Amino acid sequence: MLPGETAPSGRSADRAMARRLSQLDRGPLRGEFLSQGSFLYMEEFLPADATARLVAAVAAVEGAVNRNYLPGHKQGGSVSRHTIDELAPFIAELYRSPALTAWLGELAGERLQASPPDDAHAYALYFYTRAGDHIGWHYDTSYYRGRRYTLLLGVIDESSCRLEYELHTREPEVPNLPGSVQYPPGSLVFFDGDKLKHRVTPARAGERRVSLTFEYVTDPRMHAGWRLISNMKDAVAYFGLRQVFGRGRKRSASPSRSDAT
Ligand SMILES: [Fe+2]
Repeated sequence: MLPGETAPSGRSADRAMARRLSQLDRGPLRGEFLSQGSFLYMEEFLPADATARLVAAVAAVEGAVNRNYLPGHKQGGSVSRHTIDELAPFIAELYRSPALTAWLGELAGERLQASPPDDAHAYALYFYTRAGDHIGWHYDTSYYRGRRYTLLLGVIDESSCRLEYELHTREPEVPNLPGSVQYPPGSLVFFDGDKLKHRVTPARAGERRVSLTFEYVTDPRMHAGWRLISNMKDAVAYFGLRQVFGRGRKRSASPSRSDAT
């Protein structure tokens, strides 16, 4: 946090992001994003105070983590946006920051918007806290009519887990380029979900890692046929039936979906 700044909350979360983002040179970052096939990593991104508030948010939701296990694909813990809304509203405020959303849109080269209210992945925390917690190779496939972008923010990393990825897998004329990062608290990973093949390597005993995911879309409409399928995937693979279907939440026409890291 810079001298004279106050802790972000509500609109001040947006002001803190606006200040931070004004310090970044967008042109080179946009160039890097494009040259890497719609992928960017920045080790130092969030203001320190925002990172501290995310760490506090993790403590607030730890009793509500939903553990899941899909043999051969993933094992770990998840907390959906619905639980975050109840227990850690700072995350929701950061997700909706107009400054952050606009800046990510400039990186992507197209206007981005928040995912619909009933998308459990719109913002979610992923916990790698037991031996073997991981997620296998996948894309963050968009079930929306438009593209889906993923923003990963490092929150806690006391682990050997690595985000491994392959760039350019959907560009036949460009050789695939493997890479990996072990993104620390406050760092950023931003990519087009349909373009980045990626996984998180297994945690070892005694390790602890928590990652925050934000999902932004270019068109929040979803083909009706995907609705039940994507909600069932979320219930089984991530958040549990109660978080996805429960609590008498009002359903809208645009569901959730997919593999987030
Ligand atoms: Fe993912």
